[in-house]
Amino acid sequence: MYYGGDYNPEQWPEPVWDDDVRLMRAAGVNLVSLGVFAWARIQRAEGEFDFGWLDRVMDKLHAGGIGVNLATATASPPPWASRAYPEILPKDASGATYWPGSRQAYAPTSPVYRRLAAELVTAIAERYASHPAVVMWHVNNEYGCHLHADYSDNAAVAFRAWLRGRYDGIEALNEAWGTTFWSQRYGDFEEIVPPRLAPYSLNPSGLLDFKRFTSDALLDLYRMEKSIIRAAGGVQPVTTNFLGAFEPIDYRSWAPDLDLIADDSYPDPADAESFRAAAFDRDLMRSLKPGVPWVLMEQAPDAVNWRTSNAPKAPGQMAALSVQAVARGADGVMFFQWRQSRSGSEKFHSAMVPHAGTGTRTWKEIVELGRDLASFPRMSADVEAPVALVYDWQNRWAVENSDHPVRFDHLEVVRQWHAAAHRRHVGVDVRHPGDDLSGYAVVIAPQLYLLTDASAANLAAYVAGGGTLLMSAFSDVVDEHDMFPLGGFTTRLADTLGLRVTDFGALPVDGTHDATTVTVSLEGTSLKGRLFAEELDVTDATVLGRFGDGRLRGRPALTSRVSGAGTAYYLATVPDEEGMGALVARILAGAGVRPVVDGLPEHVEAVVRDGHLFLVNHSEEPFTPPSSLGRPIEAGSEAGDVIGAYGWRVFGRAAP
Ligand code: GAL
Repeated sequence: MYYGGDYNPEQWPEPVWDDDVRLMRAAGVNLVSLGVFAWARIQRAEGEFDFGWLDRVMDKLHAGGIGVNLATATASPPPWASRAYPEILPKDASGATYWPGSRQAYAPTSPVYRRLAAELVTAIAERYASHPAVVMWHVNNEYGCHLHADYSDNAAVAFRAWLRGRYDGIEALNEAWGTTFWSQRYGDFEEIVPPRLAPYSLNPSGLLDFKRFTSDALLDLYRMEKSIIRAAGGVQPVTTNFLGAFEPIDYRSWAPDLDLIADDSYPDPADAESFRAAAFDRDLMRSLKPGVPWVLMEQAPDAVNWRTSNAPKAPGQMAALSVQAVARGADGVMFFQWRQSRSGSEKFHSAMVPHAGTGTRTWKEIVELGRDLASFPRMSADVEAPVALVYDWQNRWAVENSDHPVRFDHLEVVRQWHAAAHRRHVGVDVRHPGDDLSGYAVVIAPQLYLLTDASAANLAAYVAGGGTLLMSAFSDVVDEHDMFPLGGFTTRLADTLGLRVTDFGALPVDGTHDATTVTVSLEGTSLKGRLFAEELDVTDATVLGRFGDGRLRGRPALTSRVSGAGTAYYLATVPDEEGMGALVARILAGAGVRPVVDGLPEHVEAVVRDGHLFLVNHSEEPFTPPSSLGRPIEAGSEAGDVIGAYGWRVFGRAAP
């Protein structure tokens, strides 16, 4: 189990480094991410490298038994670089420049930035590839975090090259983008510019390709750095830190290039439900590389600095969120950062060693957590998950394009479905519609608007093979180019679902009032739907629920169809959270999926990892676990002992 955090010794005089190593040992730290923002310290000017200080830090850490997750330091070019080569600076959609003075001011496709970054990584990798302290490589930092997309001339050149690789000639692009519309036809790839500021809405297929390009351009940078590390003889695992379900990057397409997945996670302590969204992110990270434990690379020991109001974590909350990550497949718990900065934008961000010193609650909790994590048994990344929730970045990009029947936050809806299973203590993997789904009892596919033929066939085969699929409104609408297939909507899954959608029936949404809802009555109960009230042409499915009010009163709203050995449900709206809960409970019960432990309160999380049952209390309310769970593995705990506020417990075997 890795334990530690980002270590920025360049912010401190050398005598502090000895104290750092001493305190790291006291806290049980065994890994630090070193040099993440040290480019300007390593390279004072082009061609001038200063590694003396880094040699000394590395040697001190190694002597202290602390491993290094060595950063390639490329996330923030020093000011000398943009002074000498202003063309490395990125631009926004209106052509304004992002200047240096903060961080991440580089155009990922700039040939000069790439050369400078390659020279830096080569120097670092050649010097330290065989240093005994290096156990992992930390490439760049949170790719795309601040700069979600670059629209500079560098990007224009690279975008055109990317499009040339994707399309077999300009006519193929014209066809895919539907450029006969609004006189957008291109005669040559050179006429194409990134989706910069325009008078009105931009071509949606072009926007979708620009998102794909942006994700691929950053991946290309990551690959460049990784190959430099390998060429220099670095054999240690290579990773970069992800940001949960971060919109700009299709992490699924990146996952094969990472030796292990690493995630940064900052749930808001002031939001009593933020642990649920964190659980979704952790399941997503685990699912990106099934079978390989991931690492929680960054979290805050206490408060952050970048929200409007930055609440501290409650006593125990930091440990509860850490154990949640371990329960959901992490083999490392790391923080931003080791020692609190004295100056700079993040001086109010908490750290493992707070500015207020080691007499603090934070430090005590850090030491305690280090001890607890060290006592955990070695576990595989196998987490019990009978349900797959379908989430696909490319679909999210397409579904959130403008000019749709109704605009909504797709990720929020996906997370709500996850929360519905989470509240019921049922494990969920987050999968792509093209993944092998055959092992799951239930697959939930919300708003699968963009669906490729291959993914549609995969979902149909899943149902035919005995699976239970729940699909909901605004699904199977366009192909990978954001184009309607001929023949209407629900064209690929019509047979599996036994219906066609003929009209999307957008419901009014209004930021200041509750969204308009419709009632769906089903067997004596009802649920509320929002965003869509679709008109269905049911050809061969059983109608389980009907719209109880609104324009479609009496028309089918929830259907099921037995298809081969399985069942496909379709819901023509998006339920509110309560409705999702009711529906999920019903479908899980129908598919024989039971909670990990019966009768637990909603704020207690229950997960089985490699046969170990984790219970985590994410609230102030104490909770008594059923004594039938047996003896916890922690020394000194007895079966049936109360789990206090933000407490947790691990039981040696899965619940009966
Ligand atoms: C992360 C970043 C760290 C630090 C942290 C603060 O996004 O990787 O360098 O800025 O946030 O919460």
